[in-house]
Amino acid sequence: MVSRVIPVDPFDLVIFGATGDLARRKILPGLYRRFLGGQIPDEACLIGAARASLSDDQFRAQIEAAMAEFVDPAKRDPAQIARFLRCVRYVAIDATGEEGWAQLKALVRPDRVQAFYFSVAPTLFGALAERLHKHEIANSEARIVVEKPFGRDLASARALNGTLAAHFDERQIYRIDHYLGKETVQNLMAVRFANILFEPLWNAQFVDHVQITVAETVGVGGRGAYYDKSGAMRDMVQNHLMQLLCLIAMEPPYHFDPDAVRDEKLKVIRALDPLTSEDIVRGQYVDARGKSYVDDAENPASRTESYIALRCHVANWRWKGTPFYLRTGKKLRARTSEIAVVFKEPPHSIFDDDTGWRENMLVIRLQPNEGMNLKMMIKEPGPGGMRLVQVPLDMSFADALGEEGADMPDAYERLIMDVIRGNQTLFMRGDEVEAAWAWTDPIIAGWEATKARPQRYDAGSSGPEDALMLMHRDARRWREIRE
Ligand SMILES: NC(=O)c1ccc[n+]([C@@H]2O[C@H](COP(=O)([O-])OP(=O)(O)OC[C@H]3O[C@@H](n4cnc5c(N)ncnc54)[C@H](OP(=O)(O)O)[C@@H]3O)[C@@H](O)[C@H]2O)c1
Repeated sequence: MVSRVIPVDPFDLVIFGATGDLARRKILPGLYRRFLGGQIPDEACLIGAARASLSDDQFRAQIEAAMAEFVDPAKRDPAQIARFLRCVRYVAIDATGEEGWAQLKALVRPDRVQAFYFSVAPTLFGALAERLHKHEIANSEARIVVEKPFGRDLASARALNGTLAAHFDERQIYRIDHYLGKETVQNLMAVRFANILFEPLWNAQFVDHVQITVAETVGVGGRGAYYDKSGAMRDMVQNHLMQLLCLIAMEPPYHFDPDAVRDEKLKVIRALDPLTSEDIVRGQYVDARGKSYVDDAENPASRTESYIALRCHVANWRWKGTPFYLRTGKKLRARTSEIAVVFKEPPHSIFDDDTGWRENMLVIRLQPNEGMNLKMMIKEPGPGGMRLVQVPLDMSFADALGEEGADMPDAYERLIMDVIRGNQTLFMRGDEVEAAWAWTDPIIAGWEATKARPQRYDAGSSGPEDALMLMHRDARRWREIRE
């Protein structure tokens, strides 16, 4: 199977924060891989900007170092790297100052697709937007790309939206949630809307419940102080997990069109019931040597959660009565992200009670080993009467799609190409972000008011005991967390 690489139009991409961690690990290596894949034309130019004073060659050397670290050696072709670096420039700019902007203006060509990636702290977004406008650098079709976190509550998200809206139209603003760039996440839409098979069953009549798990093995490490101000709800649920929930729960859009898709996702967020304390379990990890999350956060009194499990309900006709269980956490047993759609029992069993019946389940694995697994019942082979056994119809993308499946573009590669193409489907719209905060704000306010402390859970476990109970009380159980 040969995938079609459609080159994008020539562009000038300015990366503010080009010397930072995100640029080094994701943006720059991702751009090189797309260049190597033939998607980026030779005329495209990359302009790095940050406060550090660097020459073009020094910045190119930084990119080469980043590639040596983050690009697969098999893809590091010196001739291609030299071609890629040919059109790389660097400008020293302080987002809050006035110097360097004239130099930047001279580099950004008005007749190109223009994109400005704000890979800096969100506190600088306003300053950058204002100066791009004031110095007349961005044209009316220019795109700006902003990173998470997009606010820490509804008020701050609204303020940020207002700041950006003062200088750019909503159609120019690309809010990145890199989960939406994952190939498997996009596949959710293909599975649901390009097959007749699932849609008739995709509702409360046939779906018992849905589980969404994003488990990490790492702790908060060196980011402890930063993480402690957000926690799992703000850092993971409000954006990534809610986006996954939306893609599972949304109605079919009339077309695969940015606003049609985002309208349907927004309706799901608005239909989410408020949660009560019964629906929430929060945890903090403790490892065997007694070192815990609060040590990593350098805050002994911390009440921030490194784990959260939620039971949510989407109050609409399709989903009334089907709970969506969400969980995410650090220092868990394995690094895995998956969505499991668990179907109900057949209405009547013609087999005896002890035949070994288990529920049908569609598991969509986002990482590792992206793929899909449909658990079906068949007859256990052999002459021992009618016994049933659950077997997987297992499809890993790597196996099903050969080399291409094993070499899928990283989320950032896909998303940056969408920015250049001007396709906002996989980016969050301002009202979506605000609706997500409007739902999470009262939940966070609830536990802040009671000063509730998260429960402790063992590092390397599946999370707090009460998270298991959250399911047990409903006569359900979580899938095992494993790679
Ligand atoms: N790293 C990740 O994996 C990740 C993941 C998701 C989201 N994000 C978000 O992406 C953004 C960047 O994160 P990061 O991890 O790359 O941060 P970082 O490593 O701290 O890098 C920040 C970059 O911004 C530049 N900078 C700082 N102050 C500036 C100013 N006043 N004017 C112009 N440039 C300035 C820095 O260079 P100078 O000091 O030389 O100016 C540096 O290039 C943040 O919003 C973060 O929340 C990061």
